[in-house]
Amino acid sequence: MEIQDILFASLAGLFFIYLITKFLEFKDLPPGPWGNLPYVGYLPFLFFKSPLKVFAVFKEKYGKIFSLKLGGFRVVVINDYKLVMEAYKEDVFMGRPAFEAQMTRNHGKKRGILFSEGKTWQEQRRFAIRNLRMLGLGKHSMESSIQLEARELISFFSNNIGKPIQLKNKFNASVLNSLWYICTGDRFEVNDPNFLFMIDMFINNMQQLELTGVPFFFPWILKNTDLVVKGFWNRFLESRDRIQGLIRKTIEEHKKTFDPEVQRDFIDLLIAQWRKTDDPESSFYKDEGDLNMLLVVVDLFLAGAETTSSTLQWAMLYMIEYPEIQEKVQKEIDAVIGPNREPCLDDRANMLYTEATLNEIHRFCSLVPFSVFHSTMEDVKFAGFKIPKDTVILANLRDAHYDKGYWVDPHNFRPERFIDDANQKIVKHEAFMPFSTGKRTCLGDSMAKDSLFIFFTSLLQKFRVEKDPDFGPLSLEPNAPTLIVAPCPFNIIIKNRT
Ligand code: HEM
Repeated sequence: MEIQDILFASLAGLFFIYLITKFLEFKDLPPGPWGNLPYVGYLPFLFFKSPLKVFAVFKEKYGKIFSLKLGGFRVVVINDYKLVMEAYKEDVFMGRPAFEAQMTRNHGKKRGILFSEGKTWQEQRRFAIRNLRMLGLGKHSMESSIQLEARELISFFSNNIGKPIQLKNKFNASVLNSLWYICTGDRFEVNDPNFLFMIDMFINNMQQLELTGVPFFFPWILKNTDLVVKGFWNRFLESRDRIQGLIRKTIEEHKKTFDPEVQRDFIDLLIAQWRKTDDPESSFYKDEGDLNMLLVVVDLFLAGAETTSSTLQWAMLYMIEYPEIQEKVQKEIDAVIGPNREPCLDDRANMLYTEATLNEIHRFCSLVPFSVFHSTMEDVKFAGFKIPKDTVILANLRDAHYDKGYWVDPHNFRPERFIDDANQKIVKHEAFMPFSTGKRTCLGDSMAKDSLFIFFTSLLQKFRVEKDPDFGPLSLEPNAPTLIVAPCPFNIIIKNRT
């Protein structure tokens, strides 16, 4: 046998083994596209396409649940709200993928809330829910901090009546400051360089995180190839250190002035828990507890700032696109609150149409289209398939919100779908899941709803928002297929209502 023949036979043999391995790997998984290349998977085919669109095509082709490989990760996408509800009720689906960027951010372990799992996640999440709820009801309540930020926004808008304004970045400072107040009992001046850096980190950077992007699925290229994305990984590490340094400093200052009798804010509550924990197994214990404390605060900003501020942008976009709906909301504001009194949270219960409009804003923009990625903690049988441990799970929340089998006219912006026939109460829709569903559902949902209500009503009480006639046609499509979708840039014109 010639050397070429031996080489050819070996290569053919290797290729055959590769095919068999792939076949065995995917045999019991949900169906999916061919073209899962070694090492990079289907990633290159998504570079120039929107995964939102590609996944919609895959749903037509492969059904409610399909799988593919992205980088080194096996991914299953669930495109049916009933299946999402079924999966996210189960502990086995409550993991988070071990993405390198998240692990590095978390100093090598799944810590905090957003990217933790198991015991740490349960303890930290339970603590945060209980104590944030308590702070929301306290005297220095969240309500007054949001009202304060809404007043600042009104003053900015009042100074810009009649001028075209780009909304991107206008809500960021207000939202971030109200979160900062809850965590630290303090607020930033708008031109404080640390504040501007935080806005950049927590909001602008998040807006660039592509859904099926390289930082999640193929970080190797960022870490090792300065040629492709110059200095990306170093910049990422520097940002991590600076942001965590800022929050660490605030925590240390709190520790110095800590008084067990007076708990001023969320950081004080965390410190109290950390100080009293004597169980070495607890995620609040000593150094591990200290690190979790830092990362929980980072998580609240990461999860709460961009989400709320982008939803407000979408809200303004829809109000200029659907002026008749804006008018109806304003009629309700006039009737319930009047022109002068500041909106407060007690008004929510009396403002059915506004509440329905806010729900429709959440549905229509589907801000976190695939939720935050989950992963399987064990091998599991689901929907007739076998899904191995450590599979990344994407729940297609956008699909749930536009499912023609559930919603009558999903592509119309129609708040009335959330109001019952007797015009008395909000209709609960099981396919409505802007905050995800099940055991890992957003823990800031009530805080987000309260903030959105106050900002939205405070602005529409004072101002009418209109299209900028010189801006050109508006797009209601997301700007980019990112983890959190923001609207395409647009201008608005603010007019006084009185
Ligand atoms: C419009 C605003 C918001 C939307 C649409 C939203 C949506 C979501 C979604 C879809 C998830 C993923 C849930 C899952 O993994 O299945 C999530 C998780 C989370 N959200 Fe929100 N969120 C918003 C605001 C907030 C706010 C204001 C906070 C807190 C300050 C917050 C804190 C969190 C945290 C900590 C998690 C992680 C929960 C966990 O892993 O257990 N969110 N959010």
